[in-house]
Amino acid sequence: MSAENRQFQQLLGFIEAEMDFESGFYNDAYLDRRITARMRRTDTDSYRAYKQLLRREDEERRALLDSLSINVTGFFRNPEAWEALRPVLRELTANNRDVRLWSAPSADGREPYSAAMLALDDPDIEARRVDILGTDINADVLEAAREATYETSHTTNIAEELAPLSDYAEYVEEDGNTFTVKDSVTELVSFEQHDLIRGRAKRDFDLVFCRNLLIYIDSEFKVPIFETIRGSLCEGGYLMIGMTETLPVECRDDFEPVDKQHRIYRRV
Ligand SMILES: C[S@@+](CC[C@H](N)C(=O)[O-])C[C@H]1O[C@@H](n2cnc3c(N)ncnc32)[C@H](O)[C@@H]1O
Repeated sequence: MSAENRQFQQLLGFIEAEMDFESGFYNDAYLDRRITARMRRTDTDSYRAYKQLLRREDEERRALLDSLSINVTGFFRNPEAWEALRPVLRELTANNRDVRLWSAPSADGREPYSAAMLALDDPDIEARRVDILGTDINADVLEAAREATYETSHTTNIAEELAPLSDYAEYVEEDGNTFTVKDSVTELVSFEQHDLIRGRAKRDFDLVFCRNLLIYIDSEFKVPIFETIRGSLCEGGYLMIGMTETLPVECRDDFEPVDKQHRIYRRV
C-alpha cells in the first residue's frame, strides 16, 4: 500500500471512529472525491493534514459530513420516471384499499412529497387512500423534511422542479424564493429515521422508492438493502430505483421489470 493510500485509510478510520460516519458502506472512489473537494476548499494538501484539520475544527467536521451524506435531491427528480409511475399509482389505488408507499431514502422530503402531490394532482389516483413514509439515515435531513420549506437558490429552482404538476400553487405556498408545502400534502406523509443497510425490514408496502443511494454504496452492501426492501414489500409490490441504477445480479430473480427504462420493478 502506498504512503498516500495508507494516509487515506487512516483518514477514513478517523472519520468512522470519531465522526460516527459509517464510511465502509460507501465506495472509496466516491469518498475520495468528496474528501478531495473539501481539501481543495480548505487549502489542505495531504490526507494527513486534512485529518489534523478535522481533529481541530468542529466546523470542518460538519462541512465534511454534510458533503458526505449526499443529500442531493429534488421534487419530481427525473420527471419522465414520475410520468411512468402514474399508471402504477392509478392501478394501486383503484383496488379499493389503502396504499402504502415508502420513500427510502427520502433525503429532505422532496421525493415523498412529490408522490403525495402527484396523487392529489392526478384525477385518476385516489389520493385519500395513499399513505407515505419517508425515511433516511440522516436526522438533519429528516428535520428539514418535516419543516417542508424549500428555497430557490442559484443551484435549485423549486418552481421548475414542480413543473410536472398542473398548478403547483395548489400544493405549495410561495413567498418570494421560499416554498412551503401545504398541509393537504404533508398530511399524507410521515417521516422516521431508518438505516437501509442495518435496519429491519418493514411490512406490507405496495411501493418502495429506493432512488439515488445505490450509486454511492459499496457493492457488498447493495444486497442487504434489497433484502430489506424485498421483505418490506407485499407480494406483487412495486420497486422504483434511480434512473442510473441497476439491481444487483443476486437480486434479479426477486424482482421482474415492469418498465425497465424507468427502473420500475415488481416483487415476484
Ligand atoms: C442522493 S439522496 C437520494 C434522495 C432521493 N431518494 C432522491 O432520489 O432524490 C441519498 C440519501 O441517502 C441517505 N443515506 C445514506 N446512507 C443511508 C443508509 N444506509 N440508509 C438510509 N439512508 C441513507 C443520505 O442521508 C441521503 O439523504
